[in-house]
Amino acid sequence: MNEIIKKISEIGIVPVIKIDDVSKSVDLAKALCEGGLPCAEITFRTEAAAEAIKIFKTNFPEMIVGAGTVLTTEQVDIAVKLGAEFIVSPGLNPDIVKYCVDNNVTIIPGCSNASDIEQAIKYGLDVVKFFPAEISGGIKMIKALSAPYGNIRFMPSGGINENNINDYLKNEAIFACGGTWMIPQKAIDDNDFDTIKKLTEIAVYKMLDFKLAHIGINFDNQFSAKEAANVFDKLFGFEANENTGSIFSHTYMELLKTPYLGTKGHIAISTNSVSRAKVYLEKKGVEFLEETKSFDEKGNLRLVYMKEEIGGFAIHLVQNK
Ligand code: 3PG
Repeated sequence: MNEIIKKISEIGIVPVIKIDDVSKSVDLAKALCEGGLPCAEITFRTEAAAEAIKIFKTNFPEMIVGAGTVLTTEQVDIAVKLGAEFIVSPGLNPDIVKYCVDNNVTIIPGCSNASDIEQAIKYGLDVVKFFPAEISGGIKMIKALSAPYGNIRFMPSGGINENNINDYLKNEAIFACGGTWMIPQKAIDDNDFDTIKKLTEIAVYKMLDFKLAHIGINFDNQFSAKEAANVFDKLFGFEANENTGSIFSHTYMELLKTPYLGTKGHIAISTNSVSRAKVYLEKKGVEFLEETKSFDEKGNLRLVYMKEEIGGFAIHLVQNK
């Protein structure tokens, strides 16, 4: 996975853009960034595409901007010259793929079957766009294709929305999803960028799915922690589950045998992806205690504490089960 693909993967959703009026570029890019998706695939489906790429990248250098619906090598040249960091095509055009590979340009060609993927592999690629996703078999098809092509990572696009995105993203073969659902054409036409920002936020929160996982309470010693665990059990039937450093009352409360982070204790927030949530929150100015990171057996980030307390509680993100 190269650096650009890694960054796209950390964002998780690639808004696919069709813009007719280039003067709307700044507002559109701003709405996406403020909504939490600093990324865009600007499609060559309109005359304004090239100029929009330039405006997005110049005004929002932190955005990952790519060109979509790229059908010729001339469009690759134009897009790259104007700041595009990746190229997407609806199908696998060997001329475009070869041109990008030879010129060290990140290319994500559209593939929807085994033959397409074998072409991609022939050119040394390990990432493809799965397009059009829903009508080409959706997540079931990706799972089937992942069996023989275990090294390929997919970016499905076409028919994805906030209701089915997590069916895709929970599969490890998928590094991000693309789509237009947060950018309705009517909102662009009406200059309604607040709606685009709101839909972008909804998409991000849906993807990350933040939930309260448990409350951690600091105790001075194991006896007080056990006493509290007994009370929670007796009053509410929250069965105690003891481990080395703490006792869980059901999964709701973690009673720490010795004080850990947080003046009073901690609040654990679960999410579908700790690494994506961390990147998202960092963009909002949140700092993390890197030394508190812990990883699962596959090397995925599963827990990390924020630096700041809220109301005397440390906050940690944790991978949901
Ligand atoms: C694409 O090119 O990725 C699609 O046009 C996006 O499809 P959607 O409009 O169904 O999200």
